[in-house]
Amino acid sequence: MEFPITRLRRLRQNPVVRDMVRETRLHPDQLILPLFVVEGMIGREEIRSMPGQFRYSIAELVEDCRRFADLGVRSVMLFGIPQHKDPEGSGAWAPDGIIQQAVSALVRAVPSLMVITDICLCEYTSHGHCGVIEGHRILNDPTLELLARSALSHVRAGAHMIAPSDMMDGRVGAIRDALDEEGFSDIPILSYAAKYASAYYGPFRDAAESAPKFGDRKTYQMDPANLRMALREVELDIAEGADIVMVKPALAYLDVIRAVRDSFQLPVAAYNVSGEYSMVKAAAANGWIDEKNVVLETLIGMRRAGADIILTYFAADVARWLR
Ligand code: PBG
Ligand code: ZN
Repeated sequence: MEFPITRLRRLRQNPVVRDMVRETRLHPDQLILPLFVVEGMIGREEIRSMPGQFRYSIAELVEDCRRFADLGVRSVMLFGIPQHKDPEGSGAWAPDGIIQQAVSALVRAVPSLMVITDICLCEYTSHGHCGVIEGHRILNDPTLELLARSALSHVRAGAHMIAPSDMMDGRVGAIRDALDEEGFSDIPILSYAAKYASAYYGPFRDAAESAPKFGDRKTYQMDPANLRMALREVELDIAEGADIVMVKPALAYLDVIRAVRDSFQLPVAAYNVSGEYSMVKAAAANGWIDEKNVVLETLIGMRRAGADIILTYFAADVARWLR
């Protein structure tokens, strides 16, 4: 049936009808808020390249998480930044490390909040790479044991879910084995499955002091040009026991999100990364765009592309806006 019988504007006239025929929805249940906790920090410090986001002491982290939970944020992803770094990144699995202390304080103080921890070494290594090194090579297999050790120590501290972000081959399986051996078979793994070597991580690396001291991450993170490779990464992580798979970044990779959604049956997460956040903040601060509407439009686009879950620094704002 053609115009004038068919008029697509008919379904756009009344707000109730518009809501009724809306195909995609955004709800705070689907969001995860990433947060930074810093060893030795007193109070909090705003991240210069991420206005509105902070590097927290444990006390301030707990205080803000209470507030976020009241707003409707239901889960957070924690990144720990240690005071001392070494070549192996031993702070990542220290029983009294910053992340372990933060997790145990947070799960006790805000029991309704789901606490997920990022598993990687780059915040803890003196060289800033996500694995152990030999000269300028990043070694895969020796890194697996350290990642498994880190995951175990986070879970012992009370983490509800863990999220390996290192991109070493075989790490999901190594972590799954280590958790199962200690009776943590119910702890899910949210795998950064298709993680690209992206320039959009810049502000995060300022916040987490995790920029590599030499070279780049291109020998372990993916080439932005590759889609089929992403499907192989996801396939392998699923075979090794991933429970949720992530695509990261999100905005320049909506086709990857769609392809992963269509190819597999697991929940798919998308990480709306630091650089995506900072671009919106910068334009909004200049009065060039309407922050709230741009953020909601961007996140609904990620949902429409197939993301079931979105990690975003806007999670608390969105929870407030959608109330
Ligand atoms: C650590 C890690 C990074 C991010 C999440 N986990 C940085 C990196 O790989 O260099 C980026 C998150 C963001 O930019 O918001 N491996
Ligand atoms: Zn890393």
